[in-house]
Amino acid sequence: GQIQDQVLVIFGASGDLTYRKLIPALFDLFMQDLLPRNFTILGVSRTEFTDATFRDKMNDGIRQFAYFKNPSKEKLTVFDEKLHYLAIETKEASEYVKLQHKLKKIDHDHQTGGNYLFYLSTPPALYGLIPQFLAKFGLNKGHNGFPRLIIEKPFGEDVYSAFQLNKLLLEFFKEEQIYRIDHYLGKETVQNVLVTRFANGIYEPLWNRNYIDRVEITAAESLGVEGRGGYYDHAGALRDMVQNHLLQLVALVAMEPPTEISAGAIRNEKMKVFQSLRPLKEHDLFNSVIRGQYMSSNIRGGHFKGYREEVGVDPMSRTETYVALKFFIDNWRWGGVPFYIRTGKRMPTRVSEIVIHFKPTPHKLFVSNPDFWTMGNQLVLRIHPDEGILLKTGMKVPGAGFEVKTVNMDFHYKDLQETYVPGAYERLLLDGMMGDATLYTRGDGLEAAWCFVQPILDFWKHNPNAPLYGYPAGTWGPDCADKLIGGEKQTWRYPCKNLADDGI
Ligand code: BG6
Repeated sequence: GQIQDQVLVIFGASGDLTYRKLIPALFDLFMQDLLPRNFTILGVSRTEFTDATFRDKMNDGIRQFAYFKNPSKEKLTVFDEKLHYLAIETKEASEYVKLQHKLKKIDHDHQTGGNYLFYLSTPPALYGLIPQFLAKFGLNKGHNGFPRLIIEKPFGEDVYSAFQLNKLLLEFFKEEQIYRIDHYLGKETVQNVLVTRFANGIYEPLWNRNYIDRVEITAAESLGVEGRGGYYDHAGALRDMVQNHLLQLVALVAMEPPTEISAGAIRNEKMKVFQSLRPLKEHDLFNSVIRGQYMSSNIRGGHFKGYREEVGVDPMSRTETYVALKFFIDNWRWGGVPFYIRTGKRMPTRVSEIVIHFKPTPHKLFVSNPDFWTMGNQLVLRIHPDEGILLKTGMKVPGAGFEVKTVNMDFHYKDLQETYVPGAYERLLLDGMMGDATLYTRGDGLEAAWCFVQPILDFWKHNPNAPLYGYPAGTWGPDCADKLIGGEKQTWRYPCKNLADDGI
């Protein structure tokens, strides 16, 4: 696509995301010569900075978090000249006149063509206000150029607020101008799900209820809630990870082939998946949803605090830091195939992966190592950290007879030499600047995802005594989560346990 000259206005510029992710990503784009020729970044927030002090802070972020960590002084100076700052009281409509003037001046001084990309990285309470205030000063209308709006997560805190926010945004911006972030879609390996499925003739014929036994998606983190207790205690794992990231992965795994690679075509197919999610009924809410919370533990020589001891967390909190669920997609492709997803904080390792479990052969001809029958054929799409694809297949054990064991056909991105894998924010920012919304979520899809999780939120709210299982920090979550899948014979894949086996 084409990239036009523009100003990127970052609201919430004094915050962590700007410092750790956005500016380092922009710098990496700059180092690869991918930014527009006339390009300015305007940081906006309440905190007082001068251009110089803002630049100092951002340079510090670049040195820590950019891929190109050790830039020459000259490069950094050229980049710094693109960085500007404006302090305003972002909650006050009248203050936006200052922004209007500043943008006029930038357009004049830097020839940025009246193209504005507004990035909302503020506390969510401002997501509804800022667009309204921008509109008040005509900043939602292009003069000669375009205005676009990128919105960070969380998009709503339940189905009602998400609908409301969409409605509000649409009063001031058109859907085509609204870019809702789900940073998982910016991950190279997540996009590769589409390529694996639709660039290869060999997977798609098997990718359905006739050959697939079940699908398992895990997003485990070893970290706890870190400094974010205040936010997290009101969110919990279901809102923080399932409503967005995990359901996006489900959509990519389950969707029909799109007619073309475009924002419209791909998001239409994803929407159909969301519409086909079988709503969870009372029986499912009792039996197919498991929530957990990490407790203090001494594991592998370390001491970990329990969730309730974290700063900002209610000492009696019943917020889930782990959730596992089983559900179905009611359509022709997936009828009867269970989907299992789980996510948790303070697990033994950080790993996100999708496992496609294929059905066994109809007749068991060979003797096999026990591992082979339990594991079967699996295709593991490793999202991170060890990005790649693994196919588990049965092979003959050399020697007498016909004994079968599992072997791995394994591709690791890291084995590609000299391949630079861009970070999620780099990709998403670049797409936003180019006006490509393929990797952003559309309003209807996001609402549909909320509709699916809302019954769980309601159930927990109305049944505060519904089980909340404790699990020691540093473990794989409540044991009963294995029962969701079938128990002894079939469990979740435990990447750590199979260390030697998987070569991870
Ligand atoms: C964020 C969540 O959206 O995703 C965090 O708010 C979580 O709680 C993070 O840690 C995980 O992202 P990644 O890219 O590390 O898997």
